[in-house]
Amino acid sequence: IPVDPFDLVLFGGTGDLARRKILPGLFHRFAVGQMPQDARIICTARSAMDRAAFIELTRSSLLKFASAAKENSSALESFLQTIDYVQVDAAGQDGWDALSKALRPDMVRAFYLSVSPSLFGPIAHKLNNHGIATPQSRIVVEKPFGHDLESAKALNADLRGNFEEHQIYRIDHYLGKETVQNLMALRFANSLWEPLWNSTHVDHVQITVAESLGVEGRGEYYDRSGAMRDMVQNHLMQLLCLTAMEPPSRFTPDAVRDEKVKVIEALEPVDQSDIVRGQYRAQGEEGSYHDHSGNPQSRTESFVAIKVNIGNWRWAGTPFYLRTGKKLRARSSEIAIVFRDPPHMIFPKMEGRRGNAMIIRLQPDEGITLRNTIKEPGPGGFRLTEVSMDMTFADALDQHAEPQDAYERLIMDVIRGDQTLFMRGDEVEAAWAWADPLIEGWQDAGRTPAPYDPGGSGPEDALMLLHREGRRWREIMA
Ligand code: BG6
Repeated sequence: IPVDPFDLVLFGGTGDLARRKILPGLFHRFAVGQMPQDARIICTARSAMDRAAFIELTRSSLLKFASAAKENSSALESFLQTIDYVQVDAAGQDGWDALSKALRPDMVRAFYLSVSPSLFGPIAHKLNNHGIATPQSRIVVEKPFGHDLESAKALNADLRGNFEEHQIYRIDHYLGKETVQNLMALRFANSLWEPLWNSTHVDHVQITVAESLGVEGRGEYYDRSGAMRDMVQNHLMQLLCLTAMEPPSRFTPDAVRDEKVKVIEALEPVDQSDIVRGQYRAQGEEGSYHDHSGNPQSRTESFVAIKVNIGNWRWAGTPFYLRTGKKLRARSSEIAIVFRDPPHMIFPKMEGRRGNAMIIRLQPDEGITLRNTIKEPGPGGFRLTEVSMDMTFADALDQHAEPQDAYERLIMDVIRGDQTLFMRGDEVEAAWAWADPLIEGWQDAGRTPAPYDPGGSGPEDALMLLHREGRRWREIMA
């Protein structure tokens, strides 16, 4: 469904995210006819450049990063017609009047701040002061949204001083992923799972976001954040919320977000003995976190595993284990719901039995696996074995097209004015309020993260986090 015409102002228009994700995302939506021909994209940055030079830069970025741009040159040329460039000094006074003139009246305006968070406040303020922000406007911000609760509150105050909460779109790109949205469909459009979705039936939940890449190229930013701030406070928290939340009464932005906030607020404080932090360390050659971060003394974690308890009626007694890390065996993200054993077993004990589980694969190869126990075929007694019912969504739907990038979906939602897949201010603050004491706890203890081998599955201690309770992580597999 095409969206209405709009003016989108992209701050940081020459930046990496704009070139790799945002402009290619917009181009793809344009090429399929969702973005109207009379929409306009006004890119801004500090560099002195005329429109023609910026168009050339954008053409080369699209040819590199937008898969459809090469085959569809007429769409590419029409798309480039929608783009303008205005030089604006986000931190200073120059360019704001020119920007104001470049915008059309009575049009939905979206201000996308693909810039350092230190500029969120100043830009929001100037948009307001120069009368550029209208009641029809939306402002979009990227992570990191704060470094802790205090800085997140300050950012929220800056934005809310100039825009209403219903105009603020805080992006967590995990919510733009098809399979993450599918979690809601699986839970709330089926009657099969929900009766089992509680501590009576679920023994524990494992949420894994494993990455094979290291922190090469982003060492400086990452070393100030670590896996907890970079991934857990936001992306894994979203996965946890969607897995654990109560069914919302309707599929509206606030009904969904209210339920997510309740999950975060129900999280119990985490004991330091339930947290494992790791840092990848290569033997010999230059492939360690210390080399990539450029900080030989660094105590920042590139891996973290945490046991989380949710203190509510549905989940009390069912731990959620979260783990994420860089330089692991494979890029693979999944949520495993591991069910309790039958209350009474009448068959001979099965060595290595893992029990029933539902595994939701988020990336790559999105799909579901259900682990079942069956009788091992043959006449030699009654022995049990485990088999998987496996469904890959692409096969089931016979759709093997390249998946839509998370940004494409999210930008169109901004234009439509749908905040369901964006984080509300109180949600972000609640997530920091939970994360801060964990981080302070290990900083006070002064412990260094445990080393782990690149290409493995994280430090030994992370395995122990489950072993000590008679449980086992699933293998990280390509
Ligand atoms: C980003 C983090 O938000 O998400 C990165 O800053 C991480 O460190 C990335 O690599 C992971 O996203 P995806 O979509 O590749 O799973």
